[in-house]
Amino acid sequence: MIEVKSVNINTFRDDIKYNILYDLSLDIIEGEILGIAGESGSGKSVFARYLLGLNDSNLILNGGELTVDKNIIGSVDDYKRIRGNTISMIFQDAASALNPTFTIGSQLIDTIMLHNPLMSKKDARIKAISCLREVEIDYPEDRLDSCPHQLSGGMSQRVMIALALATEPKYLIADESTTALDKLIERQILDLLLKLNKDRKLTIIFISHDLSILESICDRVAILYAGELMEIVEKKDMASNQLYHPYTRALRDCVPKITREILPSTFRLKTIKGQIQQNDSAMEGRCVFTDRCVSSIDKCVNGKPKFNGKFKCVNPIEVDEKI
Ligand SMILES: Nc1ncnc2c1ncn2[C@@H]1O[C@H](COP(=O)(O)OP(=O)(O)OP(=O)(O)O)[C@@H](O)[C@H]1O
Ligand SMILES: [Mg+2]
Repeated sequence: MIEVKSVNINTFRDDIKYNILYDLSLDIIEGEILGIAGESGSGKSVFARYLLGLNDSNLILNGGELTVDKNIIGSVDDYKRIRGNTISMIFQDAASALNPTFTIGSQLIDTIMLHNPLMSKKDARIKAISCLREVEIDYPEDRLDSCPHQLSGGMSQRVMIALALATEPKYLIADESTTALDKLIERQILDLLLKLNKDRKLTIIFISHDLSILESICDRVAILYAGELMEIVEKKDMASNQLYHPYTRALRDCVPKITREILPSTFRLKTIKGQIQQNDSAMEGRCVFTDRCVSSIDKCVNGKPKFNGKFKCVNPIEVDEKI
């Protein structure tokens, strides 16, 4: 289990402090697929990089605790121990994350040998082939000699997953890793992740701004806004629209519905009015979403709402809990 307790990450511009992550507590339970959703700039990638100790030095960690499998992670050495071994990450742009000058085989074999220094090159090659097979790449022996530019987008993403799995991690972070793919290939990669979650018991942290994808693969979805955790939604509650936080509801309303009908020219996709708020110290005494919230009341600006284990809102949407 990964436990994140009360993490604050700040940055300073012109001596003004901005909260990039604010008092964020979130547990990642072994075996689950946890989705992380939120508009662009809500802190999804900063959170992912925090789990791996990869944030830029101008992002300052200000309190909080990270525990991975009961070990407190704080020092550079702690992070080195878990990064790639316990927690691996795959990125949006697989093609540029792979080294263009080396074959797939050499990148996989090097990664495997780095994490298993006593393994022979022959055995590492066998393991590389089995990794490619696990991510359902055809003719894996032949593919070892391919260079990244010879792979399609979907295949590059599979190779990235194979590289991430080569070190046998328990946790995999996928940060917008299917966003650049077409819908058909995206579905294939999502099915692959679901299979790895089931067969390998791989815990997956899946970051996306696309709630419909998260709904289809995640056990729970954490909703971030301006670096704050607004709601945690269970899969069944997402499907039945049992959403308490007005922000979650607004995000979900923005998901376009698939229809075969030709839409009238007056049709507009729903959006959330305004832009994501800068989370500065003025926001510390009020709800950060109030200015864009349709349910805003006086209470929202008189103190910061507390996260009650499910959502963080003083005027939540009334939900029929019997559904
Ligand atoms: N190194 C940095 N220095 C200063 N601000 C940063 C830095 N990295 C991220 N930020 C800010 O932190 C906020 C959260 O960024 P982050 O990249 O985590 O957003 P995101 O939710 O992943 O967005 P997207 O959906 O576009 O990927 C943004 O306002 C961003 O500008
Ligand atoms: Mg991001």
